Amino acid sequence: MSESVKLIYNGNEFELPVIFGSEGERAIDISTLREKTGFITLDTGYANTGSCESAITYINGEKGILRYRGIPVEQLAEHATFKETAYLLINGRLPTREELTRFSVLLNDHSLVHEDMRAFYENFPRSSHPMGILSSMVNALRSFYPELQNLEEEINMTVTRLLSKVRTLAALSYKISRGHKVVYPRPDLAYCSNFLNMMFDSPVRPYELDEDVVRALRVFWILHADHEQNCSTSAVRLVGSARVTLYAAISAGIAALWGPLHGGANQAVIEMLSEIAEKKNMKKAVERAKDKKDPFRLMGFGHRVYKAYDPRARIMKKMADKVLAKLNISDPLLDIAKELEEIALKDDYFIEHHLYPNVDFYSGIVLRAIGIPTNMFTVLFAIGRLPGWIAQWRESIDDPKWKLYRPRQIYIGPKETSFVPIDER
Ligand code: ACO
Repeated sequence: MSESVKLIYNGNEFELPVIFGSEGERAIDISTLREKTGFITLDTGYANTGSCESAITYINGEKGILRYRGIPVEQLAEHATFKETAYLLINGRLPTREELTRFSVLLNDHSLVHEDMRAFYENFPRSSHPMGILSSMVNALRSFYPELQNLEEEINMTVTRLLSKVRTLAALSYKISRGHKVVYPRPDLAYCSNFLNMMFDSPVRPYELDEDVVRALRVFWILHADHEQNCSTSAVRLVGSARVTLYAAISAGIAALWGPLHGGANQAVIEMLSEIAEKKNMKKAVERAKDKKDPFRLMGFGHRVYKAYDPRARIMKKMADKVLAKLNISDPLLDIAKELEEIALKDDYFIEHHLYPNVDFYSGIVLRAIGIPTNMFTVLFAIGRLPGWIAQWRESIDDPKWKLYRPRQIYIGPKETSFVPIDER
């Protein structure tokens, strides 16, 4: 039975349909609101606005639940590979053994990047941030791999290329930034191991793969693989809605992810913890975070959707303990992070504002332990988020209700005013 809500304004009644999600979430369909009433809705930051119906990821922020295609992220982190997770997100179900083998072969076949792309890297200033480089390089891929005639084939090929080449591009940017010899992908290595090998293998010190390090990276990537309509995913959908190429849409997603309020927070957390360690000013940091007049925030705390403990942060925290113990590393930043969490979780301000550690709070400590430099943290997040961006883009272009994203506004500028010639101003 269909349900609706009534809007009453100046004695007139307007009926708007209610839409239900499969987990019981409810939305008022306002798509006819302006036509029927002349009103638009205003929702700065879109905190109460659903931009689409999606069957990919379910989050319950109050209960701390995250599922991809119905499967709890905890189960995927425990049992799945990153490749299986990517397949699940993009194709809507887990692959069979044959499908997974075919997928692996394709990813391997497309893992090299055009040699001419290396010239770009050599001309970026040495101090460039790798996220800026990655965003440009992904957009540049279109020039090297022109469009195929068959749309379905083109989409499948672009998806495979992106999943495989972004990993190579990221490792390449690291090697070139250090002035080191580039390491090519190896067909005998799995997705995560291959990346680690491209990052850290050297002619003078062959990289030894450690099972726990590979696992840590795999779990990190699985936990980041999708997060429904977050800022970068919305950027991918919005830019994609203009029917640009998938490369351009993903490039926009990478640019959005770079921001310190979004994916850039994993780098910002380490910088904040290092400053606390150096200046021994944890209490001051907490006080500053609570001060309305101070723009400082506890990085890695708070989330637009989670008003409970982020389930990804819980897994990352355990992973940090495990990896550091395995590698016999004692990182003072982990102790500071735990102490900070303890103080914040007992503090009225953080309790009242429902502020808990988010995925970025412990992830940087894991990445540091496995040797990833701080300015590459967000790049690793981008590689992890790629399957989600692709799945969301694909869902949007397949949606029969698809529309160009074009929000409206309430204009608050000057009323009509005449042009004043320059000598009279
Ligand atoms: N430290 C201190 N206060 C905070 C924090 C924080 N980290 N986060 C939110 N608050 C406070 C705000 O000051 C605000 O207080 P007020 O209502 O008294 O004015 C209230 O909590 C709500 O904050 P908003 O910014 O309105 O909430 P929003 O949902 O827009 O913010 C965000 C979410 C951007 C993630 C925010 O919590 C934040 O800035 N956190 C730090 C950055 C961070 O860790 N980002 C990574 C997020 S996870 C990801 O993108 C992968």
